[in-house]
Amino acid sequence: MKKILAVLICALLVVASMGAMAEGQRVGVSMPTKDLQRWNQDGDNMKANLEAAGYTVDLQYASNDVQTQLSQIENMISEGAEVLVIAAIEGSSLGEALSMAKEYEIPVIAYDRLLMESDAVSYYATFDNYKVGTVQGTYIKDALDLDNAEGPFNLEITAGDPGDNNARYFYQGAIDVLNPYIESGKLNIVSGQKEFNDVATPTWQTKVAQDRAENILSSYYADGTNVDVWLCSNDSTALGVENALAANYTGTYPIITGQDCDIENTKNMIAGKQSMSVFKDTRTLAEQVVKMVGQILNGETVDVNDTTTYDNNVIVVPSYLCDPVFADANNYKEILIDSGYYTEDQLQ
Ligand code: BGC
Repeated sequence: MKKILAVLICALLVVASMGAMAEGQRVGVSMPTKDLQRWNQDGDNMKANLEAAGYTVDLQYASNDVQTQLSQIENMISEGAEVLVIAAIEGSSLGEALSMAKEYEIPVIAYDRLLMESDAVSYYATFDNYKVGTVQGTYIKDALDLDNAEGPFNLEITAGDPGDNNARYFYQGAIDVLNPYIESGKLNIVSGQKEFNDVATPTWQTKVAQDRAENILSSYYADGTNVDVWLCSNDSTALGVENALAANYTGTYPIITGQDCDIENTKNMIAGKQSMSVFKDTRTLAEQVVKMVGQILNGETVDVNDTTTYDNNVIVVPSYLCDPVFADANNYKEILIDSGYYTEDQLQ
């Protein structure tokens, strides 16, 4: 009798442990574009971590085209995805696909960018977007010693994509730090372009940021006026500003901020052409999301650390915010190379 019981318990344990394993459950991962370095890394990390955990991964990139992203997600659903992880091109444009996910009871994790205007979003995993902006603003404040220096300093601003909910958080975080100095006149926006809509960069494209920066330089700085600082929300836009400066500017090189530690920008940091970036380790985010996928599929409590901030205009989405890290030419070796994110060769 004892033997039979032992065998039964063993069998039960095996079945229970199989239940905890992924067993090839299908996860759909929808990424916005291959054009920007970070999304390739995000996609690769997600796929590798999910596969290592035993899931089958359907990873798709949508070439920054909303219709493509919509139909890719709909396909993922028809192919039997049990969880969807989505980094939206435009946060508000995936309504149809999200309604379909809801109808099929497929949980959705918004990856890095919040999915807006929908109650079908189960969780949001990102970096603390407002903090990214405050890190950039604080860097400028300290670098110019705004509390003590006389100034005034000339400032220009390049922000992100209006269709990406993150972009306003980055902008606002930085502006909240800089506003007192803008209002007192210590920071002077020579172009007069300050409001988010005037400084935004649709689709975050380098070329779009470059064209606008060239315009500003030729309209306001061609007479030899120096631009002392250029607040850029991320690296792709910073690169546009750096390209414009290289071709159209002979004054003292400005302080330039960024975000992501893309390879080109890290090289520019080392060469003194970009002052700082904000490092968002895509490995950390991918790990967190894989953990959340597992928790969802195993019916466990899902790890979140913010339940108040991210209102998508329909619901407040329970979120997990990872910590962004300040990076510059002094610490890049430690945070980017020693951590194995890049090799020395990649930054040559
Ligand atoms: C991400 C940034 C990225 C930007 C452009 C944002 O949603 O949070 O890391 O630089 O999109 O791709």
